[in-house]
Amino acid sequence: METALITGASRGIGAAIARDLGRDHHVLVGATTEAGAQAIVDELPDAEPFVVDLTDPAALAEAVTGLDSLDVLVHSAGIAPYTPVEKSTPQQWREAFDLNVFAVAELTRLLLPALRTAHGTVVAINSGTGHHSGANNAIYSGTKFALRAFTDALRAEEQGRLRVTSVHPGRVDTDMQVALQADMGNHDYDGSRYVRTESIAAAVRLAVDATDDAVVQEISVRPSGL
Ligand SMILES: NC(=O)c1ccc[n+]([C@@H]2O[C@H](COP(=O)([O-])OP(=O)(O)OC[C@H]3O[C@@H](n4cnc5c(N)ncnc54)[C@H](OP(=O)(O)O)[C@@H]3O)[C@@H](O)[C@H]2O)c1
Repeated sequence: METALITGASRGIGAAIARDLGRDHHVLVGATTEAGAQAIVDELPDAEPFVVDLTDPAALAEAVTGLDSLDVLVHSAGIAPYTPVEKSTPQQWREAFDLNVFAVAELTRLLLPALRTAHGTVVAINSGTGHHSGANNAIYSGTKFALRAFTDALRAEEQGRLRVTSVHPGRVDTDMQVALQADMGNHDYDGSRYVRTESIAAAVRLAVDATDDAVVQEISVRPSGL
């Protein structure tokens, strides 16, 4: 059975991806706490927890020890600060880049040998803001622009060895969206207006199941308004 490591798999988009890939993969369920990972592990036929603070490079190196072959790596863990430049702090910038960019780069680098062994697929959950920034989005969008630079470079460097996919969701019904709407002053949250997490998982499935001759480079999934 093929193995998939999914970061941020305790909740939201990552959890939906874990449930979908878990139908035919051994899944490493990424989370910051044992309990958060275990709740998803318990739902899946073949899974184990992958508990680590992704922003701690030493802990990350230890967490991947012994992982010699990896078919799928999905980067879903992320944070979304929503703040105007006027009020942004160096700490907010650092925290967002630490998780959304630097941790992705380091985890990928550490797992390159394992991914090459399996001719694996790397999927980064980016965002619509990875293409277009706007008010209050300098930090979050900045991380997602950088993430797109990373995946574009990785795809070019690893052509013929790995496949690299960038998934760009619009607004998705998760804890992150609840917090964002509250930050925007919207206090009557209605998750049905946004994309369901399962729809993002379906986009990831498309990339993972692509036949060997093809790489799905980029997918945009946005609320339909239906
Ligand atoms: N929701 C949207 O509307 C939307 C739209 C476009 C793109 N995205 C992107 O989609 C991805 C997933 O978003 P989401 O809405 O599913 O987020 P979410 O519901 O807030 O879940 C965030 C996940 O990230 C994990 N995480 C946070 N900090 C971590 C750390 N330091 N180390 C390891 N894991 C950490 C959390 O683990 P714990 O449970 O252990 O805290 C959790 O599993 C993000 O990259 C986000 O930018 C989301």
